Amino acid sequence: MRIVSVVGARPQFVKAAAVTRALRSRPGMEEILVHTGQHYDPEMSDVFFSELGLPAPDRSLDVGSGSHASQTAAIMVALEKVVTEERPELVLIYGDTNTTLAAALVAAKLFVPIGHVEAGMRSFDRAMPEEINRLLADHVSAMHLCPTRTAVGNLRAEGITDGVHLVGDVMADLLHLSLPHRRRAALAEAGVSPGEYYVLTLHRAGNTDDPNRLDAILRAAAKLDRPVVFPVHPRTAKAMETAGIRPEGSLRPVAPAGYLSFLALTSEARAVLTDSGGVQKEAYMLAVPCVTLRAETEWPETVEAGWNVLADADPHAIIAGVERRPAADHPDLFGDGRASERIADLCEAFGA
Ligand code: UD1
Ligand code: UDP
Repeated sequence: MRIVSVVGARPQFVKAAAVTRALRSRPGMEEILVHTGQHYDPEMSDVFFSELGLPAPDRSLDVGSGSHASQTAAIMVALEKVVTEERPELVLIYGDTNTTLAAALVAAKLFVPIGHVEAGMRSFDRAMPEEINRLLADHVSAMHLCPTRTAVGNLRAEGITDGVHLVGDVMADLLHLSLPHRRRAALAEAGVSPGEYYVLTLHRAGNTDDPNRLDAILRAAAKLDRPVVFPVHPRTAKAMETAGIRPEGSLRPVAPAGYLSFLALTSEARAVLTDSGGVQKEAYMLAVPCVTLRAETEWPETVEAGWNVLADADPHAIIAGVERRPAADHPDLFGDGRASERIADLCEAFGA
């Protein structure tokens, strides 16, 4: 069985780290790992390879940044060549980035079946580039590897019922393996004590590209009663510079963190403020209350369970959100940490 796995952005390195490990442990399974180069700064890319045991990419496309069309097209042109040369029996794609969409289009048009890890996620907001990417990717995929029941239901509502598998969340697999590392060092580096700080991440286009929202969120975070450790995504750093917004008050901006440090910081935080998909889930898995800086979420289970609130960019809701105590119950929402093994089983069965 020959599989081409395509990654390119930070959350995809995390997701693929779990799946690659499971795939490569199977005899007869050959994986060709392709890095599109959508993310390329060392702290957005290399650190994940070195920390997570991800093998070095077999092929690097080095596309870099660009507009949606130019980035997606550059990935398609380079990847078409790779898939044609490698002749895989399956292409695995992850999540909802431009890398995901480009790989889906290339594989579909070369008649190579696609397995989509994290299929079926929906925000029902088509102003999000990710929503377009995931809708289109799901509709050309053969194997839908869903993290939650909600995802399975979303696909069913769009008429997709074949090849749909509820496998659990691959981010849970990796989190279980990685958690004990670096906790004390990460807090010491950030100069914070357990339970006495917040963590903030912000990079969604809807927040960074609207100076009013960006300013409202950062002003609210700056007013919080404890330090706010803020690993700044490069997109956000540029947006803050352009809008002339300087971090003040409680905000403690730092460079994007490596995965192990980030998990360590999250696990001891009083609450997490974020517009990230992956970080909302990780906060839940670590039983840390989350305030989501969006009006909707692809992970509504976390809100229904009473551990996540949708504060959007509303300063009052953000400040009230961090003060709100979570529910007493903490049901298991994201699976048992064996999603990647199930995905490897399904890939083997697909090739048989
Ligand atoms: C992308 C994904 C988003 C995902 C996020 C994870 C799309 C449309 N968006 O958003 O779904 O949640 O990754 O972090 O695919 N930049 C650097 N260095 C880098 C990478 C990016 O400086 O290593 C800067 C560039 O100025 C670039 C900007 O960040 O133009 C945005 O990068 P891009 O990959 O286009 O989108 P993200 O906002 O990172
Ligand atoms: N992450 C990290 N360092 C950071 C911020 C996030 O390692 O400074 C990790 C985080 O633990 C999660 C993943 O990156 O596993 C989420 O990626 P991101 O928020 O960039 O994208 P999204 O999930 O929103 O697509």
